[in-house]
Amino acid sequence: MNVLLIGNGGRENALAWAISRSPALTKLFIAPGNPGTASLGTNVMLSIGEHKAVIDFCRTNGIALVVVGPEAPLVDGIADALTGAGIRVFGPSKAAAQLEGSKDFTKSICDAAHVPTAAYQTFTEAAAALAYVREKGAPIVVKYDGLMAGKGVTVAETLAEAEEALKALYASEDNAKIVIEEMLVGEEASFFCFVDGETVLPLGSAQDHKRVFDGDQGPNTGGMGAYSPAPVMDDEVERRTLAEIVIPSAKEMVRRGTPYRGILFVGLMIGPQGPKLIEYNCRFGDPECQVLMLRLESDLLGLLDGVARGELAKLSVTLKPVSAVGVVMASQGYPGAFEKGSAIRGLDAAAAMPSARIFHAGTRSDGSMIRANGGRVLTVCATGADLPEARNRAYAAVGKIDWPEGFCRSDIGAKGLARLSKGS
Ligand code: AMP
Ligand code: GLY
Repeated sequence: MNVLLIGNGGRENALAWAISRSPALTKLFIAPGNPGTASLGTNVMLSIGEHKAVIDFCRTNGIALVVVGPEAPLVDGIADALTGAGIRVFGPSKAAAQLEGSKDFTKSICDAAHVPTAAYQTFTEAAAALAYVREKGAPIVVKYDGLMAGKGVTVAETLAEAEEALKALYASEDNAKIVIEEMLVGEEASFFCFVDGETVLPLGSAQDHKRVFDGDQGPNTGGMGAYSPAPVMDDEVERRTLAEIVIPSAKEMVRRGTPYRGILFVGLMIGPQGPKLIEYNCRFGDPECQVLMLRLESDLLGLLDGVARGELAKLSVTLKPVSAVGVVMASQGYPGAFEKGSAIRGLDAAAAMPSARIFHAGTRSDGSMIRANGGRVLTVCATGADLPEARNRAYAAVGKIDWPEGFCRSDIGAKGLARLSKGS
């Protein structure tokens, strides 16, 4: 079958790589893609926001399945438009993508389905929101309701920080919808499930590293590295996450007449009382996807198409018995201002290291040269028999990359190592 994959990040490079290995694939197009996807299929320029243009492209090129990587087109209803035109799509409807598009919506699902999550209240008025944070005190978490590219959340350690966050949100939008919630404590993990109505098929766990510097210091980023599996997500935590969080949520979506169909990214805080939901996302994580794809034994395209057909119940997931680590290399200055255009050398030498695989994000081709063209630029990944081996191999590959204008964290996977050495 011919497939169109939408997106241009490290996640899409990893999806393109896994899709390109499928015996069922005829031709892969990626819109817009990046230099990493260019060697796996055909990059095409399409106005993703113009659904008619996407539909026309699919008809002209005999596309059997569209796979949507990022959240914005899903929240914008691209799946509904494609389904309406008779084109199969992997990714939830606009109504179901509200699980990522609106934090208040997700909280209402949690209320209805008795899903463990942080206690909260929703506001649309600055004075009431301010009064509430003053009453509750710090620490407290302030969240913009809608999509904000990961920048809408403030975990406030002090009341002043919480007030500052509220003032900034209400200054940029009168009557902004804001969720204020209790701060959860524990260890964070991401858990990914294919969902097709009430059918839930776990894919695997991973742990991201959101802060820019070692030891979880500095500002939040899109994610500086990941490893999979996450040792904190043991069999019992996984069982409880499915039973208490994912399955009740999936059932509630069906009950409301808006079944979820796609990959569900379950952001968890695992504390003394077990797993609690921080948030849902309606897509694969980036860089979690990169490490999950390296562990996936099953045919990804078969899974994506099975979900799109509503036939997930017939499918299963097999993972390789390996660990995977992905280290993000970013431009100096990220997540703040950074320069573009610096040359990245040593990519071939890095890719030739044992089990290494390099996924591109913010790069561009300049003749035979690869240049930096964004904040997060590469995810340098490797697998190993266990987390220490995967981590050593990933950093060995990083060591081959000659890019003075870039940087990475040196402690990706450290939390997992600490947990393994404690034997817990
Ligand atoms: P989100 O955009 O909802 O993923 O939030 C971004 C990050 O903020 C999460 O990955 C957590 O690290 C943190 N966070 C969000 N909500 C909470 C909470 N209720 N308690 C503690 N940390 C939180
Ligand atoms: N790595 C976190 C995310 O994709 O949202």
